Amino acid sequence: MAPVQVQAVPVTPDSTIVPEKVREGIALEINGENYRHTGDPQMPLLWYLRDVLRLTGTKYGGAHGENGADLVLVNDKTVSAISVPMAKLADKQVTTVEGLAANDGTLHPVQQAFIDEDAIGCGYCTPGWLIAAVDLLKRKKQPSDDDIDQLPNLCRCGCQTRVRRAIKRVAAGKAGQP
Ligand code: FES
Repeated sequence: MAPVQVQAVPVTPDSTIVPEKVREGIALEINGENYRHTGDPQMPLLWYLRDVLRLTGTKYGGAHGENGADLVLVNDKTVSAISVPMAKLADKQVTTVEGLAANDGTLHPVQQAFIDEDAIGCGYCTPGWLIAAVDLLKRKKQPSDDDIDQLPNLCRCGCQTRVRRAIKRVAAGKAGQP
């Protein structure tokens, strides 16, 4: 029997396979704690918060964060958590609604004022409003109704009027007062 001829086939690199460096993770700070995300860099922050860290205060606010329920602070600026991938958050500081109260449990004045004014219906929109209000009050010490109405947040329970009162209560330094 004649020996089988084996021919060497030249190997060409497969251009569809892109080598990837070992993932070192994305380091970031959330509510004062340090984290390192080693999963998909394109994962939206909202899913990291809710599904990985179980910080479920931040809500889904539409595919592009249209109703403001998914607002968080990133380096002190409001950001839609569904719209920002983890890849953009390296070395950033994130604050969610869970991070607003002090370590001893004392509520943030904005949280207290929402309670004072009963500005909470079902509560779905509330975390987003709280984050937006914190940001607004940093930018404007005495926000007008217009300033508040221009926030991206929507409330299906019809709490807007009470939300306005709550934000103005904080501006007046009266959170927690009768
Ligand atoms: S309190 Fe229900 S959507 Fe705002």
